[in-house]
Amino acid sequence: MNAVSVDKISFCYGSEKNILDDFSLDIAKGSTHIIVGQSGAGKTTLLKIMGGIIKAKKGKVTVFEKNLENKKDVERARKTIAYIPQNLGLVENSPAIQNILLGCLNRIKFTDTLTGFPEKEKTNAAEIAKSLGIEHVLNKKTGLLSGGEKRRVAIARALMQNPKILLADEFVSDLDYENVKHIMKLLEKMKKQYGLTLIIVDHHKEYVKKFSDKVTLLERKN
Ligand SMILES: Nc1ncnc2c1ncn2[C@@H]1O[C@H](COP(=O)(O)OP(=O)(O)OP(=O)(O)O)[C@@H](O)[C@H]1O
Ligand SMILES: [Mg+2]
Repeated sequence: MNAVSVDKISFCYGSEKNILDDFSLDIAKGSTHIIVGQSGAGKTTLLKIMGGIIKAKKGKVTVFEKNLENKKDVERARKTIAYIPQNLGLVENSPAIQNILLGCLNRIKFTDTLTGFPEKEKTNAAEIAKSLGIEHVLNKKTGLLSGGEKRRVAIARALMQNPKILLADEFVSDLDYENVKHIMKLLEKMKKQYGLTLIIVDHHKEYVKKFSDKVTLLERKN
């Protein structure tokens, strides 16, 4: 079974030329799939189409073999997908634990958090943080954390969503090899624990191959 499939999709921003043109890709359930390509090739755009954040102009997108046709399909699919943006999208002024807890807002109503997050979610967040080895930084301001710690906070926030698919954009690109190894090993552990499919965008082709089941190269249209 495929976790995500895009079939002959095309996409352009406004009236600009196509960034993706008749592009197809299948991502097997449970795999670690890495998408590489030059800057401007459309990696972020493709990831956002897979996550139902933006819609292809042409072609078909399926998540666990269900078409993303209307708003309802997209909403249903997005409950299974966690997306970590290129800049991580963390609130730097808030403690790490607040950032992690934000992940559960796709499952519970914001109004249920007005007097604080439910105890159950706090316990869940603490357990996830512990499994990622960041329990000691939970009360620290996120902006003060190291690059590796911030990434682990972003993973923890994503896991709070109970996803089946994790999309991570340029997640390890600016780390040195030792840290890449560390983060990829952690992701692999989380993948097994949560039954995830990992789709990761990266700039480098060579070293990420070691950590993936498949690498797709996206060519830039000039
Ligand atoms: N919101 C937007 N409006 C107009 N053009 C955009 C928008 N977002 C991206 N683009 C353009 O689309 C092309 C593909 O962008 P995209 O961000 O998908 O590339 P990328 O492969 O992720 O690049 P990078 O490796 O630099 O992150 C680029 O030429 C970019 O300038
Ligand atoms: Mg990008």
